[in-house]
Amino acid sequence: MSILQEILAFLGGVATPDAWLDEALRQQEILLLDHRNLEYKAAQTALSLMGRYLTKTELTARMSRLAREELVHFEQVSKIIRGRGIEVRHVSASRYAAGLRALLRGGEVERLVDVLVVGAFIEARSCERFAALVPRLDAELAKFYAGLLESEGRHYRGYLKLAYLYGDAADVDTRIEVVRAVERELITTPDEQFRFHSGVPIENSREAAI
Ligand SMILES: [Fe+2]
Ligand SMILES: [Fe+2]
Repeated sequence: MSILQEILAFLGGVATPDAWLDEALRQQEILLLDHRNLEYKAAQTALSLMGRYLTKTELTARMSRLAREELVHFEQVSKIIRGRGIEVRHVSASRYAAGLRALLRGGEVERLVDVLVVGAFIEARSCERFAALVPRLDAELAKFYAGLLESEGRHYRGYLKLAYLYGDAADVDTRIEVVRAVERELITTPDEQFRFHSGVPIENSREAAI
């Protein structure tokens, strides 16, 4: 099974809706600006996990590498934005990460398992979206996103590996099902905002995004 097939299976077979892809082509500036924010947040999440679990050496080793890699992505997408003369401005966060983080349980071990499972879903969805976008984008962006989708595939596997390393396998399996159901909702239901991880665009999403 290829990494993309593995990821689509992990995502419950829910591919990015065509309506989102059409909107992404219409709103490339928002796509890039939100993507830039997401790379920063990916690095920040990795660093905060390190800080919280500094004695877990497998986690700190992976998160340290991840944070550096996400910051390189941040610099790469920033360069593309600058090269295209796009004004860097504030773009609010989508409902996606907040919707997934609302699932985090309170106990110490439970919370770690959930953060890692949610991390795996965010990376998996990013990989799936980059792959779906590549054939539709201009050469520069297609090349950049084709490279990123490989990284996100690795990041997805890394988060999942850590979840099974530190959590009970049956609990991790159950939490994957819980997060998968909510992730499916966030991707397949109407969303008034267009963002990298938004749901199905509704008619006024272009105005709402500005
Ligand atoms: Fe990244
Ligand atoms: Fe990533």
